[in-house]
Parts: sequence; structure tokens; C-alpha cells
Amino acid sequence: MDNHQIIIRVATPADKSYSAIITDEIAASAAARGTGIAKRSPEYIEQKIDEGKAVIAVTQDGTWVGFCYIETWSHGEYVANSGLIVSPSFRKSGVAKSIKQKIFSLSREKYPEAKVFGLTTGLAVMKINSDLGYEPVTYSELTQDEAFWAGCKSCVNYDILMSKDRKICMCTAMLYDPKDHYEPEETKEYFNQNAKGFERLLRFKQWKLLRPFMKKDKSKNNGGKPKSLLHYLFHL
Ligand SMILES: CC(C)(COP(=O)(O)OP(=O)(O)OC[C@H]1O[C@@H](n2cnc3c(N)ncnc32)[C@H](O)[C@@H]1OP(=O)(O)O)[C@@H](O)C(=O)NCCC(=O)NCCS
Repeated sequence: MDNHQIIIRVATPADKSYSAIITDEIAASAAARGTGIAKRSPEYIEQKIDEGKAVIAVTQDGTWVGFCYIETWSHGEYVANSGLIVSPSFRKSGVAKSIKQKIFSLSREKYPEAKVFGLTTGLAVMKINSDLGYEPVTYSELTQDEAFWAGCKSCVNYDILMSKDRKICMCTAMLYDPKDHYEPEETKEYFNQNAKGFERLLRFKQWKLLRPFMKKDKSKNNGGKPKSLLHYLFHL
């Protein structure tokens, strides 16, 4: 697939040279946004490449542009397209959308029976997923595989997830069930009609779910200045 001189393809072993830049960018982007993210090691990225379960975007001269990989859970009943990342200088030109299209078709090819899901804190990814036919679901509709949820332990919001009995957290869950799904035109239209509401929901979740943890911060700081709501909402 070609996107303004950007090549989007299944990653090959030679792409393992990009593993550190990919994990560094995942961590840097999460820190910049002030959102949680499950941490990934370069070795994990390399394993995904070796397994043929990763999609990479690069320029024709070999500059890394973006990445995403497949994970399977509950003995292949569920597939997640995780770790989506686009290099900051290449954002907002449709690269993430093309990567997600490619990884989604790779997932459908490799695991035609599996339910494909994703967790996200961002509106851009909600939009991309809606274009592919995903619909928002509750966490109870996702894999209950302990190994999947253990991956959240390295996320800064893990305390919130556990305090809510794994029913809700900062991320919105979206799912494509091959046996029972809307058509992409329908989910796309649903998103477009409700985009403002989704945006408000993401903000409301941040406010509602983070509030009790702000009190915790205060006690942890031994009475020091607590982090303000503005800090969490706007990273001030
Ligand atoms: C989220 C991310 C992958 C998007 O990459 P991108 O290449 O800029 O996305 P695209 O250009 O393909 O945009 C896809 C759609 O989302 C929209 N979009 C992009 N960024 C957006 C934002 N911040 N808010 C709302 N919509 C946004 C685009 O307008 C586009 O919509 P369109 O199809 O109507 O034009 C990128 O910003 C990134 O790497 N962020 C840090 C890591 C991250 O958050 N990963 C997701 C983990 S779930």
C-alpha cells in the first residue's frame, strides 16, 4: 500500500532494526499526552515481527513512520490490534488509518473466526476503528484472558481499572465480531453522528475516574500540593 511515498506492509525480520525507535516513541507519546499505556520492550516488538504479526510504515529511503501488531487471546478466540504508533512528523496524513486497515485485513486473514478488538483513549483511533466496522462495547465483551489484563499492569491507570473491578477504565473498548457485526458504513455513520458525544465521554471519564486518585496523590505527597484537575485534563 502506498501513502504519499510511504510504504505500508507486513514487517519482515530486517525491520527488527526499528524496534527501539518504536518502543521509545510509544513511551514518549504516552508521556506527552499524559495518558496511560501498556509498556512494550524492543524484544517483544521483534518477536511480533518474527511471527509475521506486525505491520510497519516506512518511507522509501528507510525512515520509520509507523507500526502496529497483532496479539491473540483466549486461545485465538480474540485478536487485538495493539501498539498503534505513528512518528509525530508523519501524523494527520492518514498513515494510522492505512496501518489499521492493513493490520485488520491481516488479522482477518490469519484468524477469520476471531473477534477483533482494541482499547483506546483517543478519538482518532475510535474514528479509524468505526470506519472498519468496530462498535463500542463494554469490557465484559472483551477477552477475559488473565494474560491480556496483566498487560495493563504497566499502565499508569491500572489502579483505576482494578478499583472498578475491570469493568471500566480510561480506555474505550471497541470490537468487531465476524459473526455478528454492523457494516462499516453503519458504524462509520454512527461515529460521525455521535463524535461530539464520544469526545465528551472521554473527557468525562478522565474527570470522573481520576478524581478519587487525585485525593490519593495528595496523601502520597505527604500533604504536598495535589495535582489539579487541569493537570489531568490538559497536562498543565
Ligand atoms: C493516534 C495516532 C496513531 C493517529 O495517527 P495519524 O496518522 O495522525 O492518524 P490519521 O492521520 O490516520 O487520522 C485518522 C483519522 O483520525 C482523525 N484524527 C487524527 N488525529 C486526531 C485527533 N488528535 N483528534 C481527533 N481526530 C483525529 C483524522 O482527522 C482522521 O480522520 P479522517 O479519516 O476523517 O481524515 C497518532 O497520533 C499517534 O501515534 N499517537 C500516539 C500513540 C497513540 O495514541 N496510539 C493509539 C493507541 S490506541
